[in-house]
Amino acid sequence: MTALPGTPESTETPEPGTLCTERLLLRPPRESDVDAIHEACQEAEIQRWTVVPVPYRREDAEYFVKDLAVNGRRTGENLVWCVIERATGALVGTQGLVRCPGRPGAAEIGWWATKEYRGRGYTAEAARAVARHGLTELGLRRLEWVAYVGNEGSRAVAERVGFRFEGTLRSFAEQRGEYRDTWIGGLLATDLAG
Ligand SMILES: CC(C)(COP(=O)(O)OP(=O)(O)OC[C@H]1O[C@@H](n2cnc3c(N)ncnc32)[C@H](O)[C@@H]1OP(=O)(O)O)[C@@H](O)C(=O)NCCC(=O)NCCS
Repeated sequence: MTALPGTPESTETPEPGTLCTERLLLRPPRESDVDAIHEACQEAEIQRWTVVPVPYRREDAEYFVKDLAVNGRRTGENLVWCVIERATGALVGTQGLVRCPGRPGAAEIGWWATKEYRGRGYTAEAARAVARHGLTELGLRRLEWVAYVGNEGSRAVAERVGFRFEGTLRSFAEQRGEYRDTWIGGLLATDLAG
C-alpha cells in the first residue's frame, strides 16, 4: 500500500469543524479523500479491529465520506475527521466521535491509522485533540473508548490520551454480525491533563 500524494495543508482559514495540532490537521472528509480511505481500509489490522465492511469497496469509502460523515455532522450525532499530516497533506488516519444513544452527554471515540504512518504518535495526538474538543467545546460529560479484547495498540493509544480502563464487557460490541468481548475505558473532563 502506498501513501497517496498530497500537498501541505494550510491552517490559515480552517473550515468549520477543523481541529489543529502541532503536526496534524483534523478536518471533515472530502470527496478527494475517497481513494486514500479506500486504500487504507484494505489493510488487515483495520479490518480485524474495526467495523468497516469486508471486503471494503470504493462505494464503502464513498458512503463514509458523502453520507455518514455529512449526515453525522449535520445532526451532530456522529463527527468524523480525516487526520492529515500538515507537512505533506497525506491522510494518516481518521477519528470519530459518535453520541451514545439514550445516554445524554456521552460519546464514543474511535480511530484508525494508515499502516505507513503508525508508530509516530499521530493517533494519540489526534485523539487528544478530539477528546479535548468533545469534553470542552462540545460540553460532553463522558467519552468512551471501546475496543475488542486484545487490541493492545488501541488500548495503548487510549491510555496515552488519559482514558481510564474500566473493564471487559462480554459479548458486547457487534462486528459484522457477531458480538465480541470488549474492553471499555472512560475519560471525563476532570481526567484531562494539562
Ligand atoms: C491502534 C492504532 C490506531 C495505533 O495507531 P498509531 O498511530 O500507531 O498510534 P501512536 O503512534 O499514536 O501510538 C501511541 C502509543 O501507543 C503505542 N502503541 C501503538 N500501537 C501499539 C501496539 N500495537 N502495541 C502496543 N503499543 C502500541 C505506541 O507505542 C505509543 O506509545 P508511546 O506513547 O509510549 O510511544 C493503529 O495500529 C491502527 O490503526 N490499528 C488498526 C485499527 C484499530 O485497531 N483501530 C482502533 C479500533 S478500537
